Amino acid sequence: MVTVSLRPIEAKDKEEWINLWTGKGGYIEFYKSLDKITPQITDVTFDRFLDPKEPVYAVVAVDDETGKLVGFAHYLTHRNTWTIHDSLYLNDLFVTSDVRLGGIGRKLIEYVYGEADKFKCEKTYWSTQFENHRAQLLYTKVGVKSGFLLYRRP
Ligand SMILES: CC(C)(COP(=O)(O)OP(=O)(O)OC[C@H]1O[C@@H](n2cnc3c(N)ncnc32)[C@H](O)[C@@H]1OP(=O)(O)O)[C@@H](O)C(=O)NCCC(=O)NCCS
Repeated sequence: MVTVSLRPIEAKDKEEWINLWTGKGGYIEFYKSLDKITPQITDVTFDRFLDPKEPVYAVVAVDDETGKLVGFAHYLTHRNTWTIHDSLYLNDLFVTSDVRLGGIGRKLIEYVYGEADKFKCEKTYWSTQFENHRAQLLYTKVGVKSGFLLYRRP
């Protein structure tokens, strides 16, 4: 089984990260949304991870043997009218298909929980598609269902 180390994303990760993000077999392809994510969005998002003024963050899972990136979590912090401290929203979670079911997804979420504690976030939350049963097998172990439905402007 692959062992990984987790660390914040760095400038040198850009090419590999783009490959996991919009490359073949990557996260955006999983969401059939390659037509929505332009190279400009990708560049701006990556720059925001590295900008200390932006409340946008990424952690990467690095294969201990090969040094290659095999997963990421992207998360944001934001104000909340119900709490003094910020909330944390887990925006994206991805593990490459060849190393799934090895506990890397869980590790990434646990890392994000640690970040939430560091930022004193009182709420940490995320959403998933109804039909993403695979992800939900993990989520039911590390989280609880919020009981809310997510709506959006048409
Ligand atoms: C969702 C995703 C991130 C999970 O990553 P992963 O590294 O495979 O997840 P893990 O190995 O940490 O999770 C496995 C957990 O789910 C459980 N699980 C997984 N498949 C299972 C199955 N078929 N039956 C029962 N339990 C299962 C395991 O028991 C394990 O729990 P444990 O940690 O208590 O042992 C990964 O599948 C992925 O990137 N999918 C494509 C993108 C995606 O769906 N992202 C999430 C969008 S919201």
